[in-house]
Amino acid sequence: MARPEELEKRLNLLVKFGGLISTETNITRLLEVIAGQVQEILNADRCSVFVLDRQTNELWSKVAQGMQHTEIRVPFGKGIVGNVGSSGQFINITDAYQDARFNRDLDMMTGYRTSSILAVPLKDVAGKIIGVFEAINKRAGVFDSDDEGILQLMGSLAASAIENAQLYESLSKSQLETIYRLAITAEYRDQQDTAIHLRHISEYSSLIAHGLGLPEREIENVRYASPLHDIGKVGIADAILLKPGKLTPEEFEEMKKHTLYGAKILCNAESSLLQIACKVAASHHEKFDGTGYPAKLKGGHIPVYARIVSVADVFDALCMPRVYKPKWDPEKARDYILAESDKAFDPAIVEAFERVYDDILKIYSATDGRTTIIPGITKELHRHNF
Ligand code: C2E
Ligand code: SIN
Ligand code: SIN
Ligand code: FE
Repeated sequence: MARPEELEKRLNLLVKFGGLISTETNITRLLEVIAGQVQEILNADRCSVFVLDRQTNELWSKVAQGMQHTEIRVPFGKGIVGNVGSSGQFINITDAYQDARFNRDLDMMTGYRTSSILAVPLKDVAGKIIGVFEAINKRAGVFDSDDEGILQLMGSLAASAIENAQLYESLSKSQLETIYRLAITAEYRDQQDTAIHLRHISEYSSLIAHGLGLPEREIENVRYASPLHDIGKVGIADAILLKPGKLTPEEFEEMKKHTLYGAKILCNAESSLLQIACKVAASHHEKFDGTGYPAKLKGGHIPVYARIVSVADVFDALCMPRVYKPKWDPEKARDYILAESDKAFDPAIVEAFERVYDDILKIYSATDGRTTIIPGITKELHRHNF
């Protein structure tokens, strides 16, 4: 048994662990955080989180530390990890090379020498296996029964976070697809390059959200909700939307209604993502100084998502050709954004834009348009010649 102060330290680490993993919804980063934490708490040299792929019946891991970017796949029932997966029982061994179940291939490939291994199953609330935790080479001595208990405890904490992230990911993907299709029907009339514009809006907005230091979940929300900002343009007549020249004041009044139409289309949605999209559609033409439309909202009364998308939208609108104007050079568009700080735009958002400007420029410069938010959809777009 470990000493009381050692147990207390571990308890504190566990509490921290619970907090850290409960906010991360990106599966790759979640697994990285978990592996790093397990390594620290168990004082192990390496840690891997294996996730069960039900399609292939393999356990995969991307985060074998020290050999990043490598994906290991272990068949269910094979090796230490595969055995833990299929039996649902933990394995604690002091010398892997003495254990017939251990597969040395990985060590051969990497030149690593595995000796002690503690591997525990990750189970969902119903007790179904969703993966395996593996800690390798205890730094001092071997893994003891405290380690077994702690790793199992961390496993039960991590299992729900992993399931959550998996759910969030699949939800986002299908929602994103719907969103994308909706947005394209709304916008393809006035821009030939709708797919590129929407991808830019999505990526610029999420970069700015990142630059602002928003938490990961908010960044993802901005990424997925932003492409819908102009959905209300479906309600605008061609004679106005596609007018090659400048709009008359009356026409512009009509045009402004695209914000209200967008809000109407999206606002009763149950999905929290679409609720955010509704705020963005409603408020992306509000200005920080209160001179925008439709509600003349000012400063912090404008939802932060809309303040972000507003910068991304104007930057991209300026950089793209429109029926009513030629495209601007990105440096000129950037100067315009800077000049409008504290007028049209929130200075904090403009600062975030500046911080990520190099990344924005990279995305802008990659104009071949082959990769969009969903590659599968882009191919289809090309086929239909949107
Ligand atoms: P959009 O083309 O997507 O432009 C979005 C926003 O980018 C504009 O919002 C404006 O803030 C900024 N922007 C775009 N082009 C310019 C420009 O040449 N100079 C400056 N300073 N800012 C620019 P805004 O003005 O509220 O317009 C909303 C939408 O109304 C535009 O979306 C576009 O669809 C339409 N629109 C605006 N002006 C005209 C126009 O003169 N002719 C036509 N046909 N449509 C217009
Ligand atoms: C095994 O599970 O037998 C080897 C895989 C590893 O060491 O991670
Ligand atoms: C994704 O996160 O699923 C794709 C969004 C992107 O293209 O960055
Ligand atoms: Fe708009």
